[in-house]
Amino acid sequence: MTEQKNTSGLEGITAGETALSTVGKEGLDLTYRGYSIRDLASSSSFEEVLYLLVYGVLPSRPELDRYRNLLISLRDLPPALKTILEQLPPTANPVDILRTGCSALGTMEPEGEDRDAHAIAGRLCACFPSMLLYWHQFHRDGRRIETRAEEHRTVADQFLYLLRGEAPSPLHVRALDAALILHAEHEFNASTFTCRVIVSTLSDFYSGITGGIGALRGPLHGGADEAAMMLLERFSTPDEAEAGIRKMLEKKEKAMGFGHRVYKKGDPRAPILKALAKQLAQEAGDRSLFPVAERIENLLLSEKGLYPNVDFYSAVVYHFLDIPTFFFTPLFVIARTSGWAAHILEQRANNRLIRPLATYIGPAPRPFPKIDERG
Ligand code: ACO
Repeated sequence: MTEQKNTSGLEGITAGETALSTVGKEGLDLTYRGYSIRDLASSSSFEEVLYLLVYGVLPSRPELDRYRNLLISLRDLPPALKTILEQLPPTANPVDILRTGCSALGTMEPEGEDRDAHAIAGRLCACFPSMLLYWHQFHRDGRRIETRAEEHRTVADQFLYLLRGEAPSPLHVRALDAALILHAEHEFNASTFTCRVIVSTLSDFYSGITGGIGALRGPLHGGADEAAMMLLERFSTPDEAEAGIRKMLEKKEKAMGFGHRVYKKGDPRAPILKALAKQLAQEAGDRSLFPVAERIENLLLSEKGLYPNVDFYSAVVYHFLDIPTFFFTPLFVIARTSGWAAHILEQRANNRLIRPLATYIGPAPRPFPKIDERG
């Protein structure tokens, strides 16, 4: 780790090397293993991106077909895990369902010689939608849903089908697929770094992913998409939004879905999501949410020089896909599991325990008072 002046929040510190993605590098677009996110979002699928990240190459058509079939076969949940999901409270945060489900699956299907990290990466991406929607539908109306849904061939298609109980439109599947691709990988963000720290101790794959989910959950990271939606829902017109945001800025409140630790001149994922959001808004005949979102974007740029990050327009996209707000961050978990998996593999390939130093700011050495001598 390179020592620099202000180490608060490790800002500006280079903490290692990666061949997985380019975030905020001068002159480089955001790429996954060298491929532009623009190309990946418009012309590939989440399954291709998962394969690319985990195996290091884009699959050929037959390889992709085989991989899709494998992922479909991995959607089912063990009966013991279904029992656990039925016992978890209906009021639980859905991210905690995935965190708990991931940890529980690790006890039932542990990593070992017959089950390596590549296989578990596919297993988790394939069965996370099943876990989430099995728990959701069971507690909503007592239904024990069939999660395999073989005719719905992609993660995006399966997720929307299990949520709605009917086949989603191709546009909706395409939009969710693109959103998953854009959330798949992002270098040394807080959750990915957490995964790398965990496996650097030679801990197991599930522990790494479970820790990553915990880090992603917070509103300064993955939880911002839900907070962004709550912000958007407070306003029904652009003028109301402008007045409301001005008040927030006066009170020094943060607008969720804006700003970024690395991108100070715009998050390259945001315009792609904005274009998708616009298309979905037009399809839905929306005259309120999208104009409100645009007004907030313009105001924060002109007043604070702040750009929307990945979370702002993904919230708008998910809204038009009729996805409940409490599922926004779980979707981020599903997508980012692919990037976490790739980072865990990369960390292990050249592992060194991650153990930084701290500057000590506590009291000077002092005499220890026995318990009866304390005031
Ligand atoms: N709304 C209003 N003001 C903001 C915002 C915001 N969203 N983001 C930053 N600022 C302001 C801060 O108040 C601060 O102003 P000041 O210098 O007058 O005190 C300045 O910009 C710098 O902000 P920091 O929080 O110090 O910048 P940092 O690099 O630590 O923050 C972060 C990055 C945490 C993402 C921040 O922009 C934020 O809290 N945004 C809202 C939460 C969010 O959207 N998180 C998702 C990030 S993307 C992801 O994780 C997938």
